[in-house]
Amino acid sequence: MEEREIMIVAVDGYSSTGKSTVAKLIAAKLGLTYIDTGAMYRAVTLAAMRGGLIADGVIDREKLREVLKGIKIGFKYNRILDRYETYLNGEYVEEQIRGMEVSDRVSGIAALDFVREFLVDRQREMGREEDVIMDGRDIGTVVFPQADVKFFMTASPEVRAQRRYRELQNKGVEVSYEEVEANVRKRDYIDSHREVSPLVQAEDAIVIDNGDMTIAEEVEQMVREIRRMSGGIA
Ligand code: DC
Repeated sequence: MEEREIMIVAVDGYSSTGKSTVAKLIAAKLGLTYIDTGAMYRAVTLAAMRGGLIADGVIDREKLREVLKGIKIGFKYNRILDRYETYLNGEYVEEQIRGMEVSDRVSGIAALDFVREFLVDRQREMGREEDVIMDGRDIGTVVFPQADVKFFMTASPEVRAQRRYRELQNKGVEVSYEEVEANVRKRDYIDSHREVSPLVQAEDAIVIDNGDMTIAEEVEQMVREIRRMSGGIA
């Protein structure tokens, strides 16, 4: 019997477009492993902050190169909360990497070529072993240009800021809507204007504008596309 090839689904797009929400649901539905690459950039940012390597927005690149050599980022599935959680060198950091302090600094870290090379290598290793659905900014363009299916998620900055604001409020984070919208816009700008792997839509990506869609509709459409593109494997 011919061996079936590993399946890779890439989900790219702007921040707070709900990439991770739908990617997780699709993963559960189709039995794929979900990998959140944004969490990996966030974990590196947290490590840099803890090492005092970001001062007034300036990053100590040389020291960060050294720190990267000893960094291990892992994900563990939490059965009770039904979610993957991020670990930095064995330490649980899921809450910390989602806070505003990290969110405000992560784009600067994600713009560094050596950080991207390091994380892209890790991501390719993860996609070598099993069927994955990976969410990020450059999955379909850089990490896996040969991905079986590529999605590009988008929605207006206001819709995305509202979603993020509600999410942070539910977590009890004190922040104004204006701050959140400013953060969304700033990240959009940095993510799409950086020199290395800027956020661009892959030519062969399926665009999902989810401003007016429910999560269920989105998942249904995406699963249909995955089934169609993979010739009914999924
Ligand atoms: O998806 P997120 O908001 O958790 O991502 C955090 C930051 O990391 C965001 O500013 C974009 C960056 N990122 C990236 O440059 N490449 C990826 N593959 C994933 C995230």
